[in-house]
Amino acid sequence: MSNASKAGSFLLGDRTVNRMGYGAMQLAGPQVFGPPKDPKAALAVLREALAAGVNHIDTSDFYGPHVTNQLIREALHPYAEDLVIISKVGAVRGVDGSWNPAQSPAELTQAVHDNLRNLGLDVMEVVNFRAWGNGHSPTEASIEEQFTALAELQRKGLIRHLGVSNVTALQVKQAQGIADVVCVQNHYNLSHRGDEQLIAELAQQGIAYVPFFPLGGFTPLQSETLSNVAARLNASPLLVALAWLLQRAPNILLIPGTSSVAHLRENLTASELVIGTDMLAELEGVV
Ligand SMILES: NC(=O)c1ccc[n+]([C@@H]2O[C@H](COP(=O)([O-])OP(=O)(O)OC[C@H]3O[C@@H](n4cnc5c(N)ncnc54)[C@H](OP(=O)(O)O)[C@@H]3O)[C@@H](O)[C@H]2O)c1
Repeated sequence: MSNASKAGSFLLGDRTVNRMGYGAMQLAGPQVFGPPKDPKAALAVLREALAAGVNHIDTSDFYGPHVTNQLIREALHPYAEDLVIISKVGAVRGVDGSWNPAQSPAELTQAVHDNLRNLGLDVMEVVNFRAWGNGHSPTEASIEEQFTALAELQRKGLIRHLGVSNVTALQVKQAQGIADVVCVQNHYNLSHRGDEQLIAELAQQGIAYVPFFPLGGFTPLQSETLSNVAARLNASPLLVALAWLLQRAPNILLIPGTSSVAHLRENLTASELVIGTDMLAELEGVV
């Protein structure tokens, strides 16, 4: 059994993926802009992920921009049959590295074509519509026009399955009125738990919930309670944060980001860590 498969698997659309996946955003340069300092190290992380059994990679063409997708292609193409690469559309980068909305039907269509070209694919397995929201929090703006545009690309055969990101429960329902939703990717971790109810609702529907910033993102999680629990489990606090997510709900799929082979290897051992009920109760206090 590979390290990535020890946490079990989940049916994402019609593809089975290991619950332990990999988020590729950290492979681009500083601030997710430009090439990495060490491209060989970035390629090594991707190859190590596959060697360890990862078959779900999260990416976007706006990481770099283009850089992350091009690294994935260079490291892994031709792709293993069981590999599911999921991308997101809805933003572009300015020449200064700024993040800007690109949410018109024409921009979303362009983004899907950019992903296909840079990844070297004819069809995207899953594309998430990333709502602009308010930074990393959703707002209740309508996503009908955008999701309809992606559903049209799905009908044309460019995308197999659709997901949504940075959305509210109402926006998920709105999207489901237009096309099937196979995954929801929102900001969620030990100290950011606004989506508890949404996760449970999605679990009942067999829909994957994929937390972004599972380790806290650009400012990795820090908490005295987390450190205390980690010390007693003889593990690092971030590994406990991943194990907590795996134990939280069966439809949670993990895509921790790292630019380091050592961190990748460590993260893939999260399923071996069992947090007992007493310590789970203590971790309830980390909000
Ligand atoms: N839909 C969205 O709006 C959205 C937004 C953000 C991210 N995402 C997706 O979610 C994925 C995960 O998010 P993320 O990468 O931003 O944040 P994250 O996974 O919460 O944390 C990444 C940070 O943790 C560090 N790290 C990882 N493993 C570690 C370990 N074992 N020990 C110590 N430090 C460790 C990384 O540094 P090192 O590189 O040094 O390991 C990096 O600084 C991304 O890759 C991306 O695919 C989606």
